[in-house]
Amino acid sequence: MSIKFKDRDNNDVLLKFKEENDFADATHVLTIPIYTNKLLFTQHKKRGIEFPGGKVEVNETSQEAAIRELHEETGATVKEMHYIAQYHVARSDLPSFNKDVYVVLVDFIEEKEDYLETTGPVLFATIEEIPDTDKSFLLKDDAILSCVDRMMNLGYY
Ligand code: GTP
Repeated sequence: MSIKFKDRDNNDVLLKFKEENDFADATHVLTIPIYTNKLLFTQHKKRGIEFPGGKVEVNETSQEAAIRELHEETGATVKEMHYIAQYHVARSDLPSFNKDVYVVLVDFIEEKEDYLETTGPVLFATIEEIPDTDKSFLLKDDAILSCVDRMMNLGYY
């Protein structure tokens, strides 16, 4: 069963929590990383604070992309990861896409010289404690916030 949301651009977003026979096969990935009892975010240079993620590259699986994007944007390495949901962003003007959502238990955070389009890792215990003005639009997105609720209901945090 899918839940329907609208994003900030008025696109329909259809969210489906993972069921038994669902597999991660999206072109985009999002991670919800947990480290030392905090949520791990990245500070995007333009958009603000958000969960790490991005696009799956050629010859890469969705899970490999999630591991790579998380490391590129925060320096984090994975102890355990769980695929929990996929959402479809139906855009009227541009190509639509699917995004796989993973909960990641982080092993450690390596310090890096370059975090690409981000300035690197930031940790908060809750999303609510991040000032609204510092948040990326993705941290205000109802589909993503639902995935965070789901992650908590599943007992990961
Ligand atoms: P970069 O490759 O990172 O520069 O991004 P892009 O804008 O070229 O492509 P992407 O496929 O990441 O995003 C396409 C559009 O979808 C942009 O307008 C994004 O703002 C938007 N978008 C990206 N991720 C999400 C998401 O998780 N939810 C929603 N609702 N929109 C998203």
